[in-house]
Amino acid sequence: MPPDAIASTPAKIESSPPTNVSALQAGEHDHDSLFEHVAWVYVFCREHLFRDDTERIIAVLWPGGQPGPGTQLIELGCGPGFYSCRLAERFPDISVTGVDRSESQLRWARERAAALGLNNCRFRRINALRLSYADAEFDIVLASRLFTILPEQDRGIAEMYRVLRPQGRCFIAEPRYAFRASIPLFAMWLLAGLNRSRNGYREPYKARVFSAHAFESLFPTQPWKNVRVWREGRYQYALCEKG
Ligand SMILES: C[S@@+](CC[C@H](N)C(=O)[O-])C[C@H]1O[C@@H](n2cnc3c(N)ncnc32)[C@H](O)[C@@H]1O
Repeated sequence: MPPDAIASTPAKIESSPPTNVSALQAGEHDHDSLFEHVAWVYVFCREHLFRDDTERIIAVLWPGGQPGPGTQLIELGCGPGFYSCRLAERFPDISVTGVDRSESQLRWARERAAALGLNNCRFRRINALRLSYADAEFDIVLASRLFTILPEQDRGIAEMYRVLRPQGRCFIAEPRYAFRASIPLFAMWLLAGLNRSRNGYREPYKARVFSAHAFESLFPTQPWKNVRVWREGRYQYALCEKG
């Protein structure tokens, strides 16, 4: 296993973390995550409540309508694999890797990919804050609703930048309204509390949403060649290109 992957056994995190380790590698356990415990609640919300941005992602990333054959795309915090599978299904010539820290979410993702008969889509349990990939491995990085719950956003952006090839692009989608974005968290907290007499999950009760200014401020931490940030209805988006 690569040194910075997350051990695949639930509740175990790779040992011997490096010095600038994030809290995840330092010993937070996956059984402390709502996405692990009540995965189906998030899956339900993803399917029935949230906007499906597949067409928007395609139009923004590939204005010609078609990625080049062999395009390597990675989705960070892929959850149940909604976008990874949709893109892999639409474009059989690209290669899609979905990564998430939650084994339960990945199980849903793998089942979805298998049900669709996809063989250009794989899922890995890896920390988005410390990706086990070499520099410049991917053409495209995708992250949807990840920064809402990611503690070290600058580090997340730095990892996106690092794994992108020159001229590579990343697409980020984040909700704008805390109330609506908090519905899955609230539902998961509620059901996790009913199922188990414990609390102490790492996720907040309320989603963190970015003001327009805070969202724009995420990106200058890396030397992007171009950054475009815009808002459409309940979401804000960014498209960043590496020089
Ligand atoms: C709100 S969900 C978004 C899922 C999916 N991208 C979507 O659009 O529905 C956030 C996902 O990020 C994952 N996640 C949180 N922190 C992570 C980290 N440090 N590394 C990898 N995945 C992480 C969670 O397990 C969860 O599946």
